[in-house]
This record gives sequence, C-alpha cells and structure tokens, in this order.
Amino acid sequence: MSTTSAQPASKRRILTTSALPYANGSIHLGHLLEHIQTDIWTRFQRMRGHECYSVCADDAHGTPVMLKAQELGITPEQMVAQTRDEHHQDLIDFHVDYDNYYVTHSEENKELCELVYNRLNDAGYISKRTISQLYDPEKEMFLPDRFIKGDCPSCGAENQNGDNCDVCSATYSPTEVKNPRSVVSGATPILKDSEHYFFDLPKFEEMLKGWIRSGAIQTEMANKLEEWFEQGLQQWDISRDAPYFGFEIPNAPGKYFYVWVDAPVGYMASFKNFCNNNGLDDAPFWAKDTDTELYHFIGKDIMYFHCLFWPAMLEGAGFRKPTGVNIHGFVTVNGAKMSKSTGTFIKARTYLEHLNPEYLRYYFASKLNDSVTDIDLNFEDFVLKVNSDLVGKVVNIASRCAGFITKRFDGKLSDNIENPELLAEFQTASESIASHIEARHYHKAIRDIMGLADKANQYIDAQAPWVTVKDENKQALTHDVCSMGIHLFRILVVYLTPVMPKLSEQAQAFLNDEFTWASAQETKLGHPINKFKALLQRVEMDKVNAIIEDSKDNLGTAKAEKPKNEKPKNEKKQSKEAKVMKDDGLSPLERDPIAEEISFEDFAKIDLRVARIAKAEHVEKADKLLRLELDLGGDTKQVFAGIKSAYQPEDLEGKLTVMVANLAPRKMRFGMSEGMVLAAGPGGSDLFILEPHDGAQPGMKVK
Ligand code: MSP
Ligand code: ZN
Repeated sequence: MSTTSAQPASKRRILTTSALPYANGSIHLGHLLEHIQTDIWTRFQRMRGHECYSVCADDAHGTPVMLKAQELGITPEQMVAQTRDEHHQDLIDFHVDYDNYYVTHSEENKELCELVYNRLNDAGYISKRTISQLYDPEKEMFLPDRFIKGDCPSCGAENQNGDNCDVCSATYSPTEVKNPRSVVSGATPILKDSEHYFFDLPKFEEMLKGWIRSGAIQTEMANKLEEWFEQGLQQWDISRDAPYFGFEIPNAPGKYFYVWVDAPVGYMASFKNFCNNNGLDDAPFWAKDTDTELYHFIGKDIMYFHCLFWPAMLEGAGFRKPTGVNIHGFVTVNGAKMSKSTGTFIKARTYLEHLNPEYLRYYFASKLNDSVTDIDLNFEDFVLKVNSDLVGKVVNIASRCAGFITKRFDGKLSDNIENPELLAEFQTASESIASHIEARHYHKAIRDIMGLADKANQYIDAQAPWVTVKDENKQALTHDVCSMGIHLFRILVVYLTPVMPKLSEQAQAFLNDEFTWASAQETKLGHPINKFKALLQRVEMDKVNAIIEDSKDNLGTAKAEKPKNEKPKNEKKQSKEAKVMKDDGLSPLERDPIAEEISFEDFAKIDLRVARIAKAEHVEKADKLLRLELDLGGDTKQVFAGIKSAYQPEDLEGKLTVMVANLAPRKMRFGMSEGMVLAAGPGGSDLFILEPHDGAQPGMKVK
C-alpha cells in the first residue's frame, strides 16, 4: 500500500498478529474471520501512514500434529512444511497481507524459547515436581486428556471424553475415568510418574490484575478473568515428555516445551525472521518502556493463554506486555455452529473455488465489532448485502457515470465541482469512519460508507445524466454531474480500501490514482480516467449452494447403496428447482418462457398500460420478489415482481414501465398482486424491465 501522503503528526510503530493456526488442519471460515479482522486493521494503519507490521505463522508443535504425521507416514517436519504452504496460500488468496507467515518449528523460535525460559529460570520462576499421569504402555507415551476415552465416572455413560461427559456434562480428571483406553492404541493406560517443569504464574497475579484493567482487553473479558483470579492462579505445567514434537528444554534431556510455551514466542520469532531479512531491528518492539504498540488478535477460546500466561512470561523474561489483546467471538453459519454434516464447516479453499474472497471480507467487516459475541454468516443475508451494497450501490455509481466521461468528455473529469456541499460531506466523514475502524467497530464504518453510497446514488438519480446528455445545452452540466459521481465513488473506495483491497486496486487503475487515507481530501479536477470495466459480479445463490454441497462430509454409505429404481439425478434436481420457483409465487408464464400461439382476440384482452413505479421495496423472506406500487395516472396498483435479482428497489423508483393492468388479482404469500410488469431477459441479473421513452404518461394504453 502506498504511503505517499504527508505523514501523520505522530507516526506510530505497530506490530499486529493473528493466532497461529495449528498445522494439522485446513484454514476455515472461522480462522478467516480473525485473519480478515487483523488484516483490515493493519491495512488501515498503513494507509494512515503509520509503520505497521503484521506477522503470523503455523503452530507446528504438539501431540496431535505428531500423531497426524505418523498416520500419514511422513515426518512432522514434512507435514508442517506442506500445511504451512497451504495455509499461507489460502491467506494470500483472501488478500490477507502478512509481512511474514512463518512456522514455529524454526531456529529463531528455538533460540527465543530458550532465551525466555533461561531468563524465567534465572529469575526463579521455574520449579520441578513429579506428577502421575496416564501413560499408553503400547505406544510408550503419556496421553493428553483428549487421547483418553472411557466410561463417565459420574453417570456411567460409555465412550466419553477424558475430561468431560457429553451425556451428563460432568467434568473430571482423566484418572477418574472408568475402563479408560488410549485413543492412540486402544491399550488400557497405566499411571506413571514423571518429573515436570512448572512456571510460577501466581507470582504475577498483581501485575496481571493491573494489566487486564489497563484497557488492554475488552471489559467483558476482563470481568471473565476476574473469575479465574477468584479461583486462584495455579502453577502452569510447561513440560511434556518424549516422544513429543517440539523443542527440548535446555538442560532437561527428554523434556520438551509444551506447545503453548513456544506458540506465542512464535510471534516474536516470525517478526525476528522478517526483521533479519529486511534490515530492520525487532528489539524496540519487545523492549520494556517502548513506545511501539503490540496487538494480538485472537478468538475467545484462547484468551487464557494470551491474557494470563503470555503477559506473565513476557514480564518475567523482561519484555514488554501487549498493548492490546483483541478478542473476537466465533463464526456460526446460518445460526448454528459450523458442522461437517450440514456442509457449513467451510474451508477457505472450498469458498475460493466458487466465490470472490472480497465478498466475505466485506460481509465480515459489515458485522465485526469490538465485542466477543459470535458472528453469524447467514448466506441469504450475505447474498443480499453483497448484491445490494457492493454491486447495487458502490460499483453502480461508477458504472452510471464513467461511460459518459469516456465517450462524451474525452475521458477527463470536469474542472468544476457540481455539488460542493455533498463533496464536503463525503470528505468530512473521513475521521469518524477512521475512528470506527481504529476502535474495531468495522460495522459502523461500513454503515456510514453505505449511507454515503446511498446519497451518491440519490444525487445521480436526481440529476439523471442519461437524460441531460441528450440535451445540447446541458453538456457542461452532464460532464459536471458525471464527474461528481466519480469523485464520490473514488472517496467511497478510499474508505473501503482496507476491507476490499482488490476492488480498490482496480478502482485505482481505473482512476489513475494511488490511495492513502488522505486521498479522500484531494479533489481530482480535470483528471484523466480510464475506460471503466465491470468491477464486481453479483453473487448467485447457486454459488453458495455449491460451496455447501462441496463442504458436506460425504462419508455415509447411503450413496453407494442407492436403490436401482431411483430417479436419475438431474430429474430429481429439476423437480426440486421447480418447487423452489413455485414458492416464490411466480406465475406459470413467468416460469415458462415458451408460450403457445394465441389469437388476436386473446391478445386484445390484455390491457397493457404505462405505469410509473411510485415505490419499490424488498419483501421480507422473498428471494426473488420486489414489491412495487405502480401509478397508473390516478389508480395505484400493488404488484409483486420477480425482478429482485436484477434491480435495487431504489433504482426503480420514478421509472416508467409497462404493466398488465387487467390481470385478475392473485393472493400471494406476501399480499395481493394486482398485475404484472413486463421484463425481458434470461433472468438473474440479466433481466430488463420495459421502459417507455420520456413523454409517455402513466395510465397510457400500450397498443
Ligand atoms: N494454535 C493455537 C493458537 C496459538 S497462538 C499463539 C490455536 N489454533 S487454532 O487453529 O485452533 O485457532 C486459531 C485461531 O482461530 C484462534 O484464535 C481461534 O479462536 C480461531 N478460531 C477457530 N475457530 C473459530 C471459529 N469458528 N470462529 C472464529 N474464530 C475461530 O488455537
Ligand atoms: Zn456422565
């Protein structure tokens, strides 16, 4: 991102991170919420002229990664390298722009972990104690809780987890489980002693209490942490016995750092690797009493590690603490937890195979705030928002104005500002939109940007350049109005740049421009622009359905054992589609474009009239319909028209069209429909209502 503008009064130095995804699974929509949240914030800071770096990495270590690699018959190093590359590519394709995407299994991380540990040890924060743990005698390894199954000690239910029961919700210690067995080998675990290393977390209680109330984390989370203080902080077990994929603890052969020790140190290591490769000094970002800022973006499930252990480790090792830990909620899909059986556990790659990544960035931005409430990805809402906001509002402004500039006005914007007040309104919105993004209230920023987009469209509607362009005496005005539209479009895209960097890049190419946040304050009088190319496609629901279909866990046997007499697949599909269309309340004519021959008398019965669309609006719960109020020059009729896929209600209002005025009223799910408007085209976004030329009056008969 370019930073050509004057630097802000005080240039901040910032490092942001997202939680390091585990290297044993794919990036999914839940992860993406976090990476997108971080990326928007980071891009915004860079656009404002600050020095802002962002790093992430794959979290390579731990028992699950080790066992998964064994299962695949490769070394953990091989598996991690492969997964890291995949993860990184997924993120790049979602335009998530890390300065470095590293891996925790690195030389830098090993050295930093040793440094942190040695400092903690020297300061007396590490102690040793022997504990008794469940051990798999066949596999010869200690078993983490989740690798033990057995009968619930409380209700006796079989095949329950090592630490909690799905049936009666009891929680317990794995040693209490009845008839325990190892998930790894099936063997009955035995209890075995081993010496473990502990970090003295309770020593940091006062420091932590102060830190969590310093504004570093959200108040609701600080309150949650209070509960933990009340229960009393415990010594933290930081070692694991071999075999373990991780780093060996200095002077402790066969003992490894628990993955949650080296994972957050991985933030430092990724940044160090970046700095070393780019001639930068990472030290100021970790020094105590620094004026640099450090922000971790994480999900609520890993708050304990980031708000207790990590700041305590940093403090104990003589480093700075995070300026902020920004905690977000979980992604749900269509109101429920992501699930493989319903096809809502969606991988980044599956989404990318069907849809533009910026749609998801925009959708998440439109819902993100600074709280930890879960974020629901509702696909109907998603399709509606993308089509209505991005295609119907933002891009529409440019597509309505650019053609005239290119064809009629030599590809140059005019030397006048047609409406200085409106331009000023767009420019002064800059600081409040910026403060919303700074505070992670992205939803408020999007709301304000779309409010401005509405105003731009209303302005163009009122000026109707497609009408004035036909009048020889109004050429200058038409030029000014279209230029004004482009100025407004340009400012909107400046504000959207952190959210939609690709759209912005294309717009910058179209406008011969390079955006910083300050660009919104520049006015491009007489500026040459390029030929406008469509910037975004509408989303069709079938793309979404394909994503869900591709995400379904098809492990069931039902498919293979299909009875022979079942209908062929496409036949079934057709009948399903027909049913869907019926539910939308379209008439048979609207559904079937091939009509049979009719007599002239039949035709003469149809009363076609010119109508003015007095009002147009969305119909709740209707996928395809808009509700129209049609003015017939005295008489007003209500019509539900299946044209939502092609029109925004606000673009229709005021337009003339042709309607069948004597169609018998039909009662539809949403109300009475008293006629029909005429539209041509195959459907979807290619649907065009008939528009009589100017001069036609509402109520005129069409012959
Ligand atoms: N490896 C650890 C993090 C170590 S950070 C030093 C980890 N990995 S994870 O892959 O399980 O999760 C990575 C991030 O994704 C976490 O912040 C987690 O909260 C987030 N999410 C995982 N599933 C999520 C949703 N369904 N919704 C939103 N965020 C989710 O934890
Ligand atoms: Zn139970």
